[in-house]
Amino acid sequence: MMGDAIMAGDVYERVMDLARRRGFVWPTSEAYGAVAGFIDYGPLGAMMKRRIEDAWRGFYVVREGFYEIECPTIGQEAIYLASGHVKGFTDKMFQCPHCNEYLRADHVVEGGGRCANAAVLDEEALCRELEDLACPACDGRIGEVQVFGFSLMFQTSIGPGSQRTGYLRPETAQGIFTDFARLLRFYRDKLPFGATQIGKSYRNEISPRQGMIRLREFTQAEAEIFVHPAKKEHPNFARYSGYRMPLLGHPAQQAGTPAVEMSMAEAVASGTVANEYVAYYLALTHEFLTQVGVAPDRLRFRQHLPDERAHYACDCWDAECLSGRFGWVETVGIADRTDYDLRAHAAHSGQAFTVFIQYPEPIRRSETRVVPRMGALGPRFRGGAKQVADAIAATDPATASAPAGFTIEVDGKPIEITPDLYDVREIEVEVQGEEVMPHVIEPSYGIDRILYAVLEHSFDEEAVEGETRTVLRLSPAVAPIQVAVFPLMSRDGMDEVAMAITDELKAAGLMAEYDDSGAIGRRYRRQDEIGTPLAITVDYDTLDDGTVTLRDRDSMRQVRLSTASLAETCRALCRGRLRFDGLE
Ligand code: ATP
Ligand code: GLY
Repeated sequence: MMGDAIMAGDVYERVMDLARRRGFVWPTSEAYGAVAGFIDYGPLGAMMKRRIEDAWRGFYVVREGFYEIECPTIGQEAIYLASGHVKGFTDKMFQCPHCNEYLRADHVVEGGGRCANAAVLDEEALCRELEDLACPACDGRIGEVQVFGFSLMFQTSIGPGSQRTGYLRPETAQGIFTDFARLLRFYRDKLPFGATQIGKSYRNEISPRQGMIRLREFTQAEAEIFVHPAKKEHPNFARYSGYRMPLLGHPAQQAGTPAVEMSMAEAVASGTVANEYVAYYLALTHEFLTQVGVAPDRLRFRQHLPDERAHYACDCWDAECLSGRFGWVETVGIADRTDYDLRAHAAHSGQAFTVFIQYPEPIRRSETRVVPRMGALGPRFRGGAKQVADAIAATDPATASAPAGFTIEVDGKPIEITPDLYDVREIEVEVQGEEVMPHVIEPSYGIDRILYAVLEHSFDEEAVEGETRTVLRLSPAVAPIQVAVFPLMSRDGMDEVAMAITDELKAAGLMAEYDDSGAIGRRYRRQDEIGTPLAITVDYDTLDDGTVTLRDRDSMRQVRLSTASLAETCRALCRGRLRFDGLE
């Protein structure tokens, strides 16, 4: 039987109250006063988070075959100079003249209803927009303020004496980019390949007032998929070509029209999505999010507007989850980052970030080359002639075409090369292949935001027999506890049987919890509230005939089953291989 829904009011408060009370999420270091932007996961939250991460691994590591790597969370400065984060990873901030609170200018403007995407406004425009708005912290009229950039990077120093600057990583992606050459070798020098990383990222967010949504330390799960720049057809596109989902492209946003449901094949053919790779990961993300418990009717995929898109991305979409308190919240970003990152690291490190792509057949073509005249170089440079000849041959033909010749450097010494020492001519060459700098497709998931969305979307309150039943309708794949086992009473051997069943379920790989405290109804309610999908009760009949009751959390229906196949049945129910109504 299902109860009558009685949800009303601010779901965020109720979800967070439950999360605190039942050990999902706690303010951090409360004994010293919590610090905004940091949270602790309690026993149930940590378990649920691990399950979401494992579900993510199931998709990306196991199914897609993108092995996981683990890099340090502190990176040397050179990485973040190259990536552009040291210079450009800033948000625009102002200080309220009344309460002195520092606030993020674009968020206050958006919150004031002036502009849907204030991140694209410059400092001056933000100042103008802010003037008549109320400060969200003290409600005073903001008036004339200065807006300035604030770096989100947490800086630290590596080793004693502060000689080396380091940064806490703002995304896990850079570790994958800087390991590119080794990953390429690992994947036997072939494109496409991908690598993943799950771990903490750090951003010194200006004003994190949104609970678990905006944290200063958070967990990202990122995949970086390296593809040939001219081959953006996904080899397994057929898997999702017919997958239908609503897409809110940028033209629809500009026209104020709603999202359009279409298949991924239609999305690519119509140019709504840039290429098959981006479309493939949009669909995979939709499948993943709905599988872990994001409500499909509170999930949308929104394309970045052209002026919102990062300058390096050629297409970018956000999977957004609807929250009763925060509205649409970006939970996953999916971008085609082109070759921006690899090009930046190649330029800053001097290392190669390319892949040699062999042609199926060698190609013969004519090329302009600088050809040293050995007959003239020998007498002039004697033992050094070979080194000079190599340097001449490596010179750009355009440079070598200058009438007066050019200058080379050998062992740090400049040498004038006059035109009598070489020829610039067309020669026929056989080319085996080419060096290509891959493009990167990146699905970037925020695990904390996903966990919050799943909590909010699965939270339910209903009236059952004159009482309010609070229930988290979590999928067994992410529920911290999968089966609760209760002895009707802790006597006459019922407790021992229940404990033995608990052990058997654990041995079958299920997270089972034995609970014998309080009335049976209260025990059901406690498990409903933390989302435990199944509950087993051992009663007097169990002692007689070896059967127990198995209760389904959502429908509250019960069936009697033999203990003989209990663990297998629970496993099948939790893995989605069996439906509860199939048992009745
Ligand atoms: P926002 O605009 O909300 O600050 P973002 O565009 O900066 O997000 P990305 O840089 O695309 O986010 O990061 C990828 C993912 O990492 C996001 O989709 C989000 O789930 C997560 N994420 C980013 N910043 C935070 C944060 N401060 N707290 C929790 N999760 C975050
Ligand atoms: N790696 C994407 C981001 O965190 O911005």
